This record gives sequence, structure tokens and C-alpha cells, in this order.
Amino acid sequence: MSSKLFSPVDVGPVRLPNRIAVSPMCQYSATNGEANDWHLMNLMQLGISDAGLIMLEATAIEPRARITHGCLGLYDDATEAALARVMASARAVAPQGARWGIQLGHAGRKASAQRPWEGRGALGENEQPWTTEAPSAIPFAADWHTPRAMTASDIARVREHFVESARRAARLGFDIVEIHAAHGYLLHQFLSPLANQRDDEYGGSLENRMRFALEVADAVAAALPGHVALGFRITGSDWLPGGITVEEAATLATALKARGVSYVCVTSGGVAHASIKVTPGYQVPLAEHVKAASGIVTRTVGMIVDPHQAEAIIAEGQADIVAIGRAFLDDPRWVWHAAERLDALDAIQYPPQYERAGAPHWRGAALLRPHEALSLA
Ligand SMILES: Cc1cc2nc3c(=O)[nH]c(=O)nc-3n(C[C@H](O)[C@H](O)[C@H](O)COP(=O)(O)O)c2cc1C
Repeated sequence: MSSKLFSPVDVGPVRLPNRIAVSPMCQYSATNGEANDWHLMNLMQLGISDAGLIMLEATAIEPRARITHGCLGLYDDATEAALARVMASARAVAPQGARWGIQLGHAGRKASAQRPWEGRGALGENEQPWTTEAPSAIPFAADWHTPRAMTASDIARVREHFVESARRAARLGFDIVEIHAAHGYLLHQFLSPLANQRDDEYGGSLENRMRFALEVADAVAAALPGHVALGFRITGSDWLPGGITVEEAATLATALKARGVSYVCVTSGGVAHASIKVTPGYQVPLAEHVKAASGIVTRTVGMIVDPHQAEAIIAEGQADIVAIGRAFLDDPRWVWHAAERLDALDAIQYPPQYERAGAPHWRGAALLRPHEALSLA
């Protein structure tokens, strides 16, 4: 087996058995922030996927930090207990060595929104909206809530909530805690001049705009036990004039690395409407730049569907880990099929209960996936 995609990688103190990550994906299905049977099904299914890292969805650090009424939370004993039940079951079926991460976030001015299947806009008067907060009182778009500009004590409160949620995550046994600083949510809003027009020490220069994210990094790093890795999801580009550039992303990654952050995932967009050309691997050059400039372990993401493309990204050193989102929703067995195509079946722990359906044992697999040129056993 010579696949680089299926080789292990160290992320700070945590070893991933391969370089495939399930990208964090909101399910918008929690009740009062509490995980339920949908999360149980979703995470048990992803648990047996053989992905080296399974990231849980953006998880709110306080109720007002949720994007929608259905967002997952980790901010009190009830949300912690609900997630503990789900994680115990997911871990029970996952192969040995699978690593679990949770993404902690605050939606800022993009909070108080409708679930995607309910419209995706700001919550209306009769949908129990709540007051949003952000670096500046600038709405995400014309028809969105105008947020309240955060005071210094709001900033300190949010930082403390990140710490408390990270402590709960460590108690739940997560291997990785990832801070969401992308996709136009609160920390990204502080980082981007398009949303941050403050004139205090949190606005203006890049150094000032990075201050809040770096304070969160310091505080969470200090609170996590040594065996838990801390990562950040950052934006590689706002794709808009006056927005964050890949050079600024690299500066942020370098500063995070200096603070003991173990990896970044480089994504893009979301702080304001932009037209983005989404082609296979479109964000890989952003990750490649950040990785080369900062030397931090780097995860890439975005329309990476073909296993050979994922393999090439790792083999050519453009990124250290490949995150895959929608392809896992469509096909939770993506890793097994990638291992078939990359001749790496010996690198995964295919569940023996399902073994008779695998390509080496079942001619039907080649009929199901004829384009993959599987040999008929
Ligand atoms: C249903 C859905 C929910 C998502 N939720 C999150 C999230 O909670 N946190 C996050 O950082 N990105 C989220 N994303 C973005 C994905 O993690 C990923 O970056 C994006 O889908 C591009 O990767 P893909 O082309 O492999 O799907 C979500 C994407 C989808 C499709």
C-alpha cells in the first residue's frame, strides 16, 4: 500500500490513522441545543466510515451563538449530557484509532437565522428571533438583523464561553477542539474589514483584527489537557475587494501556530455575498499557500470528491489532510470506495459484518460502481 492519503499524520498530540476528515456539517436538528436521535444516526454512520477524523458540526458556545434554533450546543449540563449519549454510541461502533473532533463556534451577525430548508434568511418576528451581536452594527445583508456592536465585556464573555465549551468537549473525550473562525461567523467577522469597522484595539490593522481570535486561541489552549489538539478553521479569502487575502490568512496561521494551535483548515467566503467559482479543489491553492508560508499542519476542503484528486493533494504536499463534506452525506462509505480505488484496503478497518459487500468479495460492487473499474471477483 503506497497511498499517501491512507498514511497516518500527527496533529499535535493526536495521531490520525489516515488523512481523510469528515468536514464539519450542521444538521440543524437539535432541540434547545441538545443532540438527539438524528445525531445518533448520523454520527454512528460516520463512525464506521473509516475516516481518520470525524468532525462534529459547528457547536454553539452559548444559546445566542447558534445560527438557527436547530443548531447543536455545548453550553450547559443538558447539552453536554445529550452529546455524551450520542458519542458513547458512535465511539462504540467506530474502528480503533478513529479520532473525533468538535467545532466550537459563535454565529455573530449570522445568528437568529432560519434552517436552510425553512428559507435560510433571518428569523421573522413570529419565529422567535433573538438579538444578534457582532464587532460592528452592520448587518450581513440588507434583509438581515442589525447586530449589536460588542463591548469589551461582551468580548470577554464570549472568550470565556469558548473556554467553558472546550472544557466540556475535553470531558466528553474529544481528541480535537476546532474553533470556527470562518464562513462569516463571529471570529471571522472580527478578522474581516468587511464586517469589522471598530476603532478600538479589536479593529483596524490586521494585528488588531486578529486580536480576538488569538485571545480565544490562548485561552482555549490553556484550558485544554495536553492530549487534546486545538485547531482553527480560517478563511483563505473573502473573495471580495477589501476583504481577507490569502497573505493575511497565512499571517493568522503563523500567529496561531506560535500559540500552540496544531492545525488550520483553510476554507473561504461567507462574510458577505460574493460570487465564487466552485470547481473541484477550488480552495486547495489557498491551503497550499498557508501551509507553505506558515508551516502549520493544514487541512484543505471544497469539492474534493475523486479519491485520486485527494491522493494527489496529499502526495504533492499541497495539504496534510483532506476534508470532505457533501460527498460523505451522499456516500458515507466514501473512504471504503476510495480505498478500493487506491488499492489501500489493507489500511482500513472495513467492518467484518459488511465484508461480503466489498469489492474483493462481491461482483455486485463492480456493477454498482462501474466507472471505478473495479475488477469482477
Ligand atoms: C449541510 C452542510 C452543513 C455545513 N455546516 C458546516 C459547519 O457546521 N461548519 C463548517 O465549518 N462548515 C460547514 N459546512 C461546510 C463544509 O464543512 C465544507 O467546507 C463545504 O461543504 C465544502 O466541502 P465539500 O465540497 O466537500 O462539501 C457545511 C456544509 C454543508 C453542505
